[in-house]
Amino acid sequence: MILAPSILAADFGVLAEQIKRAEDAGASWLHIDVMDGQFVPNISFGIPVLKSIRKYTDMFFDVHLMIKSPQRYINDFIDAGADGITFHIEAVSNPFECIDIIRKRGKNVGISLKPETPVAAVEPYLDKIDMVLIMSVEPGYGGQEYMESVNEKIRKLRQMTGEDFHIEVDGGIDADNIKTATCAGADVIVAGTAVFNDDIEGSIRELLGK
Ligand code: DX5
Ligand code: ZN
Repeated sequence: MILAPSILAADFGVLAEQIKRAEDAGASWLHIDVMDGQFVPNISFGIPVLKSIRKYTDMFFDVHLMIKSPQRYINDFIDAGADGITFHIEAVSNPFECIDIIRKRGKNVGISLKPETPVAAVEPYLDKIDMVLIMSVEPGYGGQEYMESVNEKIRKLRQMTGEDFHIEVDGGIDADNIKTATCAGADVIVAGTAVFNDDIEGSIRELLGK
């Protein structure tokens, strides 16, 4: 299982330091939530922040674009240091356009689904991508409650993809419910508020079951 702490919940005043702590404690991916105030009702941060933190860590930068028409900015995020780009199926009219841009740059391709979007929506693209991100909260904010209804979506998707494919779950994960997501078939787990608190190291150990 890959743990991907979401920096949305970090203290941005000491961001590089908190990322380093998460990395040293055993997290291998860093989840980077980009919000535009259009696709979701919140604004987070963007390209300059990515570029800054890239200097401080070799973690895999897992960029979750919650923005309208993401094709406009994919190359900029890759230039800034993204290792994988995940865009929302609900935010694009032609998913193949985004897939092609990301592939051309040799980066991991992910497609994300909001809680109400069925897994059938990504079926036509599964053989062209590396990962599906299943949102277990409405995108836009950290600190919400995990929606149990997504477990069935995870199971269904895992049946469709087989083992050699990433299924990432994002939203409301903590040490108590992480097993429901992994047992359903998820192998990449995002956690924001459950990681970036007073005890980053202890929280990561607990989530990783160590
Ligand atoms: C929500 C973001 C999530 C969020 C997770 O729109 O995509 O990554 O930061 O935060 P927690 O773990 O606090 O639900
Ligand atoms: Zn996210």
